[in-house]
Amino acid sequence: MSLQNFVDSLDRLLDEANATLDAVASSEQLEALRVKFVGAKNGALKSVQKLMGAIEADHRPAAGKRFNDVRDAIQSALDSASERLGGAGSRRASNELPVDPTLPGIRPILGQLHPITQTIEHLKDIMGRLGFSITEGPEIEDTWHNFMALNIPEDHPARDPLDNFYLATASKQLLSPTDRDAMLLRSQTSTVQIRVMETQPLPLRIISLGRVYRPDAPDATHFPMFHQMEGLWVDKHVTMAQLKSVLRLFATSYLGNDVHVRFRPSFFPFTEPSVEVDYWWNDNWIEFGGAGMVDPNVFKALGIDSEEWSGFAFGLGVERLCMRRFGIVDIRDLYRSDVRFLRQFAS
Ligand code: DAH
Repeated sequence: MSLQNFVDSLDRLLDEANATLDAVASSEQLEALRVKFVGAKNGALKSVQKLMGAIEADHRPAAGKRFNDVRDAIQSALDSASERLGGAGSRRASNELPVDPTLPGIRPILGQLHPITQTIEHLKDIMGRLGFSITEGPEIEDTWHNFMALNIPEDHPARDPLDNFYLATASKQLLSPTDRDAMLLRSQTSTVQIRVMETQPLPLRIISLGRVYRPDAPDATHFPMFHQMEGLWVDKHVTMAQLKSVLRLFATSYLGNDVHVRFRPSFFPFTEPSVEVDYWWNDNWIEFGGAGMVDPNVFKALGIDSEEWSGFAFGLGVERLCMRRFGIVDIRDLYRSDVRFLRQFAS
């Protein structure tokens, strides 16, 4: 076969392809033409290509080049016809999944705050409206802030090494628990009372929310790490009646209007008098924490004149507040990091 004959057949093929593809009106037609011209088995291009073997060897490179040009031209005519028809059947579209706009969408997975974090934000919000500002204290504490300044004497059972996480720090060996500089994971947020009275001018009205640690075996109501909300109000004439009002206002804001507050006489080294705080909720008295009037010994340790200043303090368990509200019955569920459980408490 001569080069000229070969080129003529290519040109005829290209003319025919251009003409028919220009007129194509449906994607079915287009697909039929694609098979006809560039089909891998019996396409017209394939047949012309087979003729190449019969061309003189000298002319073969020229024939090959011409063949490639025509093949590309037909392919781009197919592409533009397909684009004109809205993409169906084009080389590109056949690689992509067809879009079905009637299918339901893919829901994006949104994260959310942990129920304890939600509770903390809620508590801050309520107490903020009652005029309390928010402070923070360190989770690694010394015995001065965790016990001594809080009037907790050396032989008090709360300081027992078995009831606390005492720490050996890089700079210090594990010190005796009676040493003022012995370090521990704080066992209560009352430490923050001392820290603010050491550094901030009176009067003050603060809350502090954070983690505390005690070596309790985990069960439905105990966990070695939990959260407390500490409150402290120091001013010239702070009274127990104000303490009760604040705790009642707090409880009704957080739990609802039918909540009652009960004080039961109790003892804490850093308050005098001291009370246990119970809330009446869903036909039960539930204990939420302790409170009282700041003990004069605490003021004395900080050089504050207890004749001039008075104050109240309270400490509530955040997990209890959170669990009551969300109907969670096992504290361990909060800390298993099981998203299937936590996801139920969307904010
Ligand atoms: N710190 C106490 C505890 O962990 C709770 C507490 C009781 C805090 C009385 C107070 C308070 O501020 O006045 O058990």
